[in-house]
Amino acid sequence: MPSLIASLCLIQGLFLIAVSAQLTTQLTATCNANTNCTIVNCQIVCTCNQGFIQNAQNQCVPDNLCISQPCKNGGTCNRSTIDPVKYRASLLSLTKDQLVEEAICINLLITTQCQNQSKSMNDCYDWLHIGKAKKSGIYEITPPGTKPFKVFCDMETDGGGWTVFQRRINANISFYDKLWKDYKIGFNNGLENNLWLGNDNIHVLTTKDANVELRIDLWGDRVQGSSHPNGYWWEKRTDFFIDDEAQFYTLHLSSSFTGNATALPGYGINTMGSQFSTIDAEHSVNPCWSSKQIGGWWLGTCSHVALNGNYMGFLADSSMHGFYWDTGSFVINPIQSRMMLRSIL
Ligand SMILES: *[C@@H]1O[C@H](CO)[C@@H](O)[C@H](O)[C@H]1NC(C)=O
Ligand SMILES: *[C@@H]1O[C@H](CO)[C@@H](O)[C@H](O)[C@H]1NC(C)=O
Ligand SMILES: *[C@@H]1O[C@H](CO)[C@@H](O)[C@H](O)[C@H]1NC(C)=O
Ligand SMILES: *[C@@H]1O[C@H](CO)[C@@H](O)[C@H](O)[C@H]1NC(C)=O
Ligand SMILES: *[C@@H]1O[C@H](CO)[C@@H](O)[C@H](O)[C@H]1NC(C)=O
Repeated sequence: MPSLIASLCLIQGLFLIAVSAQLTTQLTATCNANTNCTIVNCQIVCTCNQGFIQNAQNQCVPDNLCISQPCKNGGTCNRSTIDPVKYRASLLSLTKDQLVEEAICINLLITTQCQNQSKSMNDCYDWLHIGKAKKSGIYEITPPGTKPFKVFCDMETDGGGWTVFQRRINANISFYDKLWKDYKIGFNNGLENNLWLGNDNIHVLTTKDANVELRIDLWGDRVQGSSHPNGYWWEKRTDFFIDDEAQFYTLHLSSSFTGNATALPGYGINTMGSQFSTIDAEHSVNPCWSSKQIGGWWLGTCSHVALNGNYMGFLADSSMHGFYWDTGSFVINPIQSRMMLRSIL
């Protein structure tokens, strides 16, 4: 358009009003965000508004975000550059250019060049990478469409950023006889202790991102005479999600895995595509939950594992009964277990 403006500006006198009108139209089209454009010597000249500077892409970006958009609630602001590899565009709805101009408020409200978004942490991955939280412990998260709730974040295992959704540490609270509504909302005796985060929450946390990995850790074997009473096993799988309640929280999970908890393919967690069953809501092919006390699990024709099964005392022999895990070469009755999830981004 400069040629048009230039040629219009050659015309003098009577046409000046028409030219001005034309330039005013040009101004509207030319001015980018945060600029102040005026006509100087028949040319459109744009300057960045106060508090903004021109970057390499000729955009006016905030000169100092911490001054132009102060943090809410008295928070203090640090300029920061987030690692583009770890950056989650869906979360912040920013473009890559804005990325380097992002400022993080210490009270975890984020400020950007155009608006202050209230920055909520969607999961433990956010707390690790955006909240810069380093210690495992209890954090509040607000995944999309939910009210804030507290979770235990594991920030140490395998790179951290894991949201823990199941833990057994002892027999303090019973899992196998909890009802559908209990599993729906979750139960615990402290988020650092025995815990089920709740199927509705697990559904949200496993469906908000395209791919979520599942990690399972098992400690100890209560079987008397076990050759590995203090054994430790782990497993990771991808493509983990559970459907919503209308689909009875059907389990989806990759059949491939890493780790040493499953010795033979098809063992370990093997009930992909199965619905969740509880003692009062049976969706399995066989009613295993009553005879084997393994309720609160995705049961097909029973299951090779039941990490919410009845926590019995030390067992005379290994059995697929109660709280167990069949590796494919032997059955463990674990002393402790933990299940956690993390988005793959
Ligand atoms: C825009 O720039 C002109 C010329 O420099 C200046 O007179 C005017 O005050 C500026 N307007 C704003 C809103 O900054
Ligand atoms: C951004 O924060 C400032 C300072 O607290 C406040 O005055 C302004 O209304 C906020 N803007 C939005 C869009 O929330
Ligand atoms: C803010 O930035 C300063 C300077 O880089 C740094 O020393 C300080 O630790 C940062 N504060 C936080 C909470 O990240
Ligand atoms: C069970 O948990 C409750 C509440 O957290 C605690 O007060 C109690 O001491 C625990 N009992 C055992 C045997 O661990
Ligand atoms: C499983 O792997 C972990 C980590 O590599 C290791 O510490 C553990 O001893 C292994 N367990 C068994 C039973 O080999």
